[in-house]
Amino acid sequence: MMSLLIVYHSMTGGTRQMAEAAAAGARSEAALRVRLLPAAEAQAADVIEAGGYIFATPENLAAMSGLMKDFFDRTYYAALDGVNGRPYAALVCAGSDGRNAALQLERIATGWRLRPIAESLIVCTHAQTPEAILLPKIIAEADLERCKEIGATMAAGLALGIF
Ligand SMILES: Cc1cc2nc3c(=O)[nH]c(=O)nc-3n(C[C@H](O)[C@H](O)[C@H](O)COP(=O)(O)O)c2cc1C
Repeated sequence: MMSLLIVYHSMTGGTRQMAEAAAAGARSEAALRVRLLPAAEAQAADVIEAGGYIFATPENLAAMSGLMKDFFDRTYYAALDGVNGRPYAALVCAGSDGRNAALQLERIATGWRLRPIAESLIVCTHAQTPEAILLPKIIAEADLERCKEIGATMAAGLALGIF
């Protein structure tokens, strides 16, 4: 059975909610196995066996989060040449920016020769103070819906074999 791998990291819950929404959208497609894995648990074998990917990360210090980077560091060369041409989408949860984390995800995906199925989606939580930044996040329903749509689009394309 074709599978979609969703890899995410989240410190205060925002990215996790985005990844879960994408998984919920993808699970509307019965002919697809959807795997939602925390970055720390995802291995190169998980990458190689999947037919498509959604990568979801917070932007921390103008970069993808450390554990998300660790996932790519551990899997990049083991999966290189085993994933050429497969589809992916990127989700970023940020305070006020997110562009650099998205750019980093896109560059790694380009290195793997993956093909984007949508523009990278950045959701800003608008937390500004240190206290607000460290609080648990609640992502707005409209933003979760956009994540869900990306999951559903990916799932439909994989199931139909058009990606
Ligand atoms: C150490 C740290 C650095 C951060 N740096 C940025 C940043 O460079 N740009 C930005 O837009 N948000 C930044 N943020 C805000 C987070 O992206 C935001 O809180 C987001 O909700 C984190 O996702 P999470 O809830 O999944 O952990 C930072 C947060 C932390 C804890």
